[in-house]
Amino acid sequence: MMEKFVIKGGRELKGRVKISGSKNASLPILFAGILSGELHLKNVPDLKDIDTSCKLLSRMGFTVERKPSEVLIRQGNSIKTEAPYELVKTMRASILCLGPLLARYGKARVSMPGGCAIGARPVNLHLRALSKMGADIRIDHGYITAEVSGRLKGVDITFDFPTVGGTENALMAAVLAKGKTVIKNAAREPEIVDLARALRSAGAEIEGEGTDVIEVNGVEEIGKIDYSVMPDRIEAGTFLAAVALAGGEVEIEDFPYEVLTAVIEKFEEAGLKIEKLSEKEVLVRKEGRLRGTNIVTQPYPGFPTDMQAQFMATMCLAEGISVIKETIFENRFMHVLELSRLGADLTIDGNTVVVKGVEKLVGAKVTATDLRASASLVIAGLAAENTTEVYRIYHLDRGYEKLEVKLRSLGADIRREKSELPY
Ligand code: EPZ
Repeated sequence: MMEKFVIKGGRELKGRVKISGSKNASLPILFAGILSGELHLKNVPDLKDIDTSCKLLSRMGFTVERKPSEVLIRQGNSIKTEAPYELVKTMRASILCLGPLLARYGKARVSMPGGCAIGARPVNLHLRALSKMGADIRIDHGYITAEVSGRLKGVDITFDFPTVGGTENALMAAVLAKGKTVIKNAAREPEIVDLARALRSAGAEIEGEGTDVIEVNGVEEIGKIDYSVMPDRIEAGTFLAAVALAGGEVEIEDFPYEVLTAVIEKFEEAGLKIEKLSEKEVLVRKEGRLRGTNIVTQPYPGFPTDMQAQFMATMCLAEGISVIKETIFENRFMHVLELSRLGADLTIDGNTVVVKGVEKLVGAKVTATDLRASASLVIAGLAAENTTEVYRIYHLDRGYEKLEVKLRSLGADIRREKSELPY
């Protein structure tokens, strides 16, 4: 059944909200369960992408047990090292099983991820790294088939671009490789640090995560992974954006301050008040109209592409001009025309959008195109006059745990309803 959100804008947000565990940290760690054969993961968000990962692991023959915010995985008797089309198609992150399967079982057959709404998103860098480690990789019938005789070997890998998924695949493969792997120009995202910590807790020998050189001393096996996932920095940033649009005063709990500094600085530059109450708590307050502020998305520690749409939504109502440049994905502006339907003044020029702040947004029907674009439309709806209806919210359910429930607890008027449209 297709659903939509119906939002009556104009209510300020007030109260306290707790950030869930990180989606993009949970996914690779769940696949790291393939390496260890035993995993107990805590603080896992209840999301569609987590369901898909669990389904994939259970299809492979792992025993998967779900409890509220926990996942337990145990190796079964016979493991099928394959990720089929229908699951990879619904979640590109399925590609993260490739490195672990190869390292642990010496072979893998994974459907090649197809196109994506936000850009081409090839996996060539993942494949190059694994082939350098000794895997024989072929692509046929839409599948990546990878094999290695014996163990993968530790090598030096220099990425052309600090790819997040590519770094995660190489890191997981290197854990069980023979000898030392040095990953250069590695992605520095906090989710990679979380993955490295989870692996280390099980006996993996990893150093340098969070910098652009990660060194891994391969071991023959690792033990059980028992780990609690970091809070979701993008969900936390999205709540900053929600207050920046709707106004009000909100305390955010489990707020990963240290890894959100680029985002915090930009919201502060725009005039939002963000007060650190403790290591894990902030108070966010909006006083008057925000100022137009420029951003350029960059690999971590720069401004994250996953916050670009939500920041743009905020700037639609700020005073003056904001210039928003997207450098990570080539087509991540699908929300621009939808925000324009709410009355925003936006002009796309290549990989840049010029936002001219308007006095008000007015509710309309809009359609979500990808996860973060959906979030930008929902929070814009909180600030728009009258009613905004957001369609295709299944995108949102992939990555935000109970967003409407959390927003409602802060006083927003947002309801989930059956869609009258076929989407
Ligand atoms: C991760 O995707 C995140 N997904 C994305 O979050 C996030 O937007 C992205 O990193 C950037 O921060 C997960 O963690 C599951 P990349 P990933 O490899 O790993 C190009 C969300 O909304 N590239 O760093 O796929 C690629 O096309 C999602 O939660 C190659 O050319 O990102 C892109 O332009 C969306 N060849 C750029 O690098 C490759 O082999 C960054 O991709 C790999 C990547």
